[in-house]
Amino acid sequence: MLKGKTIVLGITGGIAAYKAADLASKLTQAGARVETVMTEAAQKLISPLTLRNLTHRPVVTDMFTMASEYSEEHIALAEAASAVVVAPATANTIAKLAAGIADNMLTCVVLATEAPVIVCPAMNDVMYRNPVTQENLSRLRARGFTIVEPEYGRLASGKLGRGRLPETARIIEAIEQVLVRKEDLKDKRLVITAGGTREPIDPVRHIGNRSSGKMGYAIAEAARARGARVSLISANVSLPEPAGVEITRVNTADEMKEAVERAVKDADVLIMAAAVADYRPEKMLPAKIKKEDAETIVLKLVRTPDILGSVRGNFIRVGFAAESEDVIANAKKKLTAKGLDLIVANDITAPGSGFDADTNRVVIIDRDGNTQELPLMSKREVAEKILDRVKELFPRKG
Ligand code: C5P
Repeated sequence: MLKGKTIVLGITGGIAAYKAADLASKLTQAGARVETVMTEAAQKLISPLTLRNLTHRPVVTDMFTMASEYSEEHIALAEAASAVVVAPATANTIAKLAAGIADNMLTCVVLATEAPVIVCPAMNDVMYRNPVTQENLSRLRARGFTIVEPEYGRLASGKLGRGRLPETARIIEAIEQVLVRKEDLKDKRLVITAGGTREPIDPVRHIGNRSSGKMGYAIAEAARARGARVSLISANVSLPEPAGVEITRVNTADEMKEAVERAVKDADVLIMAAAVADYRPEKMLPAKIKKEDAETIVLKLVRTPDILGSVRGNFIRVGFAAESEDVIANAKKKLTAKGLDLIVANDITAPGSGFDADTNRVVIIDRDGNTQELPLMSKREVAEKILDRVKELFPRKG
């Protein structure tokens, strides 16, 4: 797995920096080419010479030396990287990465890379628990960084707490998982819907819903990063467009149905994360309703098409069930009624879940009724878990 891969190992100035030597050594022994980048503080704690000898590669210690073979070294390293791993990552470097600051070689490389980034925080437990550190880590997670949580144990201060750099084997496991995920959807075509439809009442009003599109966009970004070709059908979302994804914008359930039918022609997977209106006004009024015209008005609503229920074919179909009660039972019913391969159920009343949140707590249910309950995590992490499950189904669908 690691053989022939280029791993950029970023070492920052935590006491655990000495453990990075073991990581560098094990990665090198496993056949990876390890390019070490050390911050100034890291060099006070462990000698670059140690890393140089363990990796048999020059160690980058400065932005402005001319010692290296590359002219724009941060770009060269960023492009060469199969993955970047920052271990240990101090609160300071984590804050810089979250803010997009690039004031040393390591932060420049991370900003300039499209490779997956794994961050292994290690620090004093109070610094780790500090809300600003936790917020910064959440931002990195939401952006698709993998965070390897520190472990509980004796810290440099002599106190017990959460903040220890995990053992090398756990970090290597995380790197391997990231490398597998990097390519595992290569050449697959995924159609993903996101956002909420709007059904017009008159030229200025509509019936809408609270979907932000964050879950669908997170799936699109994750699938793209894993090598898939992604068509994103987006309804009324105000999020930045994910790079490298084909976007079709729609408004209503009818428009979404048409776009989905067109897009699934050569698809391997359809994931319907959009909140689609179940009812729409029977007809859109041609002129704005005026309040002077009537004291009360009655809107007649008619059913919209059930897109997921009606669009079938030789592709994997994944639905969402946003529920406020009997979550699992209702989701199972939906999975059966719509003949889905997987359904992702979430309780929209639970804290940190549902509309417009950056996090979600979901249960993934398959056709055999198996339920996989996931803890509260970023929508990006939920997206990765859903794609892991989708991937398992490929051999079955052929
Ligand atoms: O039946 P219900 O709306 O609760 O099902 C939710 C799932 O079905 C979601 O995946 C949603 O995107 C999809 N759906 C659909 N067409 C509709 C309503 C919902 O495809 N008209």
